[in-house]
Amino acid sequence: MSPREKIEELRKKLNEYNRLYYVENTPAISDMQFDMMLKELQQLETAYPQYADPNSPTQRVGSDLTNRFEAVRHRYPMMSLSNTYSLDELREFYDRVVNEAGGEVEFVCELKFDGTAISLIYENGRLVQAVTRGDGTMGDDVTANVRTIRSVPLVLEGDDWPPYFEIRGEIYMPYEVFRKLNAEREEIGEAPFANPRNAAAGTLKLQNSSVVATRRLECFLYNVVGEELPFRSHWESLEKARSWGLRVSDKMRLCHTWDDIVRYIEGADELRKGLPYATDGAVVKVNRLDLQRELGSTAKAPRWAVAYKFKAEEALTELLSVEFSVGRTGAVTPVANLAPVQLAGTTVKRASLHNADQIALLDVRIGDKVYVEKGGEIIPKITGVDLSSRPVGSIPLEFISNCPKCGAKLERYEGEAAWYCPNTSGCPPQIVGRIVHFISRKAMNIEGIGEETATLLYENGMIRDIADLYDLDPVRIASLPRLGDKSASNIMESLAASRNVPFSRVLYALGIRFVGETTARNIAEHFGSLDALMNASAEELVQADEVGDKIAASLREYFADPENVRIIDRLRRAGLQFAVQERKRGTDVLGGASFVISGTFRRHSRDELKALIDEYGGRNLAAVSSNTDYLLEGANAGPAKLAKADKLGVKRISEDDFEAMLGADAVHGSGEADENIAVSNVRQQSLF
Ligand code: IVH
Repeated sequence: MSPREKIEELRKKLNEYNRLYYVENTPAISDMQFDMMLKELQQLETAYPQYADPNSPTQRVGSDLTNRFEAVRHRYPMMSLSNTYSLDELREFYDRVVNEAGGEVEFVCELKFDGTAISLIYENGRLVQAVTRGDGTMGDDVTANVRTIRSVPLVLEGDDWPPYFEIRGEIYMPYEVFRKLNAEREEIGEAPFANPRNAAAGTLKLQNSSVVATRRLECFLYNVVGEELPFRSHWESLEKARSWGLRVSDKMRLCHTWDDIVRYIEGADELRKGLPYATDGAVVKVNRLDLQRELGSTAKAPRWAVAYKFKAEEALTELLSVEFSVGRTGAVTPVANLAPVQLAGTTVKRASLHNADQIALLDVRIGDKVYVEKGGEIIPKITGVDLSSRPVGSIPLEFISNCPKCGAKLERYEGEAAWYCPNTSGCPPQIVGRIVHFISRKAMNIEGIGEETATLLYENGMIRDIADLYDLDPVRIASLPRLGDKSASNIMESLAASRNVPFSRVLYALGIRFVGETTARNIAEHFGSLDALMNASAEELVQADEVGDKIAASLREYFADPENVRIIDRLRRAGLQFAVQERKRGTDVLGGASFVISGTFRRHSRDELKALIDEYGGRNLAAVSSNTDYLLEGANAGPAKLAKADKLGVKRISEDDFEAMLGADAVHGSGEADENIAVSNVRQQSLF
């Protein structure tokens, strides 16, 4: 291949990878592979300047500017960092700096957080503006959204801050939040985010800051900028920033020698595997600010800092087969079966292939040796193929054209990468998927039926849709294998109890595309009843919080289907709640009953529960005694409390029971309880 052909090939590939990353949200290759290809192209373009092209991917200055926010000019440009994957190159940086300084140099080593860059502007100790990197010169003003991030102080502590300064850092989404968000998105038929970085960047650009607040972004700050700042070193500036309440990582270290730096990098590469957020390298910075100024910067990056990027942990293994699974929404997802291989501490046997575009782009074939990588996702992904070991005679992998479960011809919706099975009412995994969603905990919470039992009931012709659940015959249930009288009566009891589940959860349980838990709550509150919702025009629908054209269209489509209307009528006759119940707030519903709370809860923090008990006329007690009426029991409730309650005959109730007591459409918590625990546990870790 001539250099020119090679240059063209690289440009074409890089453009396609860029499109997949930024437009489709499904990166096809790892960051390192991308960086390596980009570097190769840069070198070729330098060696053969006659082929220069202003449209080459090497000329592209990354930009996150959108037209939805006000673009503002950075007072100090937001530069990026030069980066390397090689310790030799890092050593060159070190030697150059030491040479120019003419003596010993102190460096600060930090983690490189893998999120999205932000500049926070503080005036007189108050946050006045938050701006994205944009193209480095202009950025988007995302202040309203950043104000929702709890680790960003709106007012600084102390009084020795400069009257004006900016502090730069990284906004990120912790793995835990990312996994939950993606699970929720997949539940309602939304494409999942490819990684926590994209999720953080996407969230920061949402129009509605109250949605941003629910996404639980976090922030680490790592660079103070301004004029006549009262510090002599970078370390000092960050220590000061920390004392003003700004969130600075405690994983940074001062290094005096090359060996110190290497030790930091090695330690950090180990440490990051246990961190609750994504990092992709370490950043080495000259500590003294006067030396930083002396070293200056190039057009793009400072000459006093460099990023050393970690290689993502990857493994090479054989692709044995590809399976196509059909979800509740009919989306068909290809999943790779792999020869088992060790990766980041677990054995990997399956990997995601995302969609048809991804398969075509990677050109993966059965029998190929493929690279797998984990990126904060539970399921690892295939990032490349080792072409040198491709077996002779292999053939390209074809995406299926018919549903693997019901045979219907697959369809693709405009603007979406996934193929769908359109046979909504006749395709078994879609039917069972809808039933499983309906009975799930956050929806109707029907105990005694899980995926297995739902499948069994379906296969035995006892349920074909969600309304059939309320016509189930306990005698027939008891006759099924693995079930019996006890299971049958549990199921019947649970179904009866579900008649009290508030309207907002019934609406969520219907499984309307794009209508997740929060959206269902907003819609229920806004319209008050299903009748009002069904009669709403598209213009009226978008009046509800967080409902845009996409959700409005999905709701209209759902209610336009006569089959859905029939199911709803049957559910109505079965006695489910199709209107928001009267708010009993401020009344004495709990009639002075006393409660002890133990454990953690899904929808409310313990403080919220206590406040509800007060508000609705109950009493909070700290310990179980013969005066206690109810033990409100969450996950990991104290065994001593439970035993005592049982001994004294105190009634044990769940969060659901409690909500039912309040008749509670209006009662919803922040669902923070569980997460706080997870976060405080991991904060204990120390470096090295
Ligand atoms: S310092 C002028 N420190 O990585 C120097 N950047 O790939 C400003 N990043 O644009 C950057 N962790 O968004 C610095 N500890 C850290 C960092 C960090 C992550 C990001 C930042 C930067 C990008 C470069």
